[in-house]
Amino acid sequence: MKRTQIIAHRGARSLAPENTLAAAEKGLEVGADLWETDVGVSADGVLIIFHDDSLKRTTNAAEVYPDRAPWTFSEFTYSEIERLDAGSWFDRDDPFGQIAAGRVGLADQQGYVGLKVPTVEEALAFTKDNDWVVNIELKKLPPPLENFPVVTEFFRVMDRVRIAPEQVRLSSFQHHWLAQARSLRPEVEVQALVGYHRDRPIDWRAVEDYQTINARATLTPPEKVRQLVAAGKKINLFTVNETDEAARYIEAGVSGLFSDFPQDLVPLALAAAGKETP
Ligand code: G3P
Ligand code: MG
Repeated sequence: MKRTQIIAHRGARSLAPENTLAAAEKGLEVGADLWETDVGVSADGVLIIFHDDSLKRTTNAAEVYPDRAPWTFSEFTYSEIERLDAGSWFDRDDPFGQIAAGRVGLADQQGYVGLKVPTVEEALAFTKDNDWVVNIELKKLPPPLENFPVVTEFFRVMDRVRIAPEQVRLSSFQHHWLAQARSLRPEVEVQALVGYHRDRPIDWRAVEDYQTINARATLTPPEKVRQLVAAGKKINLFTVNETDEAARYIEAGVSGLFSDFPQDLVPLALAAAGKETP
C-alpha cells in the first residue's frame, strides 16, 4: 500500500505565517510530501496566495489602510497588497502556541517580520525550484470578482513558470471549475473538495465523478475512508493535527492528510509505512 502523504496546510502554518513562502519552506524542511495553499485575486487581476476574504487577520491592512474596512482582498490592487506585512501577526498572535512551546526559533521569528503576500507565480516558482508538489485550492472569489476567469488565469501562470503538471494538484469546492480544468488540461490532477459546511453531512454522490476526494475529516469517519478506498477512490482529509486521529486514518488507508502540524505527522506516516515493510 502507498504511504499516506502529509500535506502542509497553508504551508506549515503552526510554525510560520500561513500562506507565505516561509510557511512553505517550513513544510519542506519538516519533510511534508507537498503543501496546500489558497488562491485569491487582486483588484487588478494578479493571482495571490491568501486564505480569508479579508486581509485583516493575516496582514497589517487595518493599520496601513484604516479607512478601507472590511479589507476584502479583491478591492485592493496588487501594488497595495504588496505593501502589507503578512508575517508580524504570527509573532504577535502565536496562533498555534508553537512560539510559546519553544518550537519556533528566534531567527525564524525575526525573519517573519515584513513578509509579503506571495503571488501564485512565486508560489509555483518556489515549488518548481524545490522539486516539490503543491495543492492549489481555488477559492470562491468575493465581489466584484465572482466571475473572474481564475482557471484560465491559473494555467497562464503555470505556463509562465513552466512548472511540470505532475507538481500541481488543483482542488476546489467549486466543482464546475474542476470540470473546466479537466477539459482544458487533463494532465493536471484535480481533486474535489467536499464538506464545506462543518455541520452538514457530505453528499458523496455529488463527487462520484472524481477519482480523488478531499473531505472534511470531522465529517468522514475511518469506516467511510475504508469504504471509499474499497471503491477505488483516493481520499485526502482536512484538517488533521492530532497524532491519534491521524493514526486511525492512516490505518484506514487514507491517501493524504492536510495538517497544520506536518512536523508531527510526517514521522508518524513514515513509521506507519515502516511497519508495513516486510
Ligand atoms: O484544501 C483543504 C483545506 O485547505 C480546505 O479548507 O479553509 O483551510 O482552505 P481551508
Ligand atoms: Mg485551503
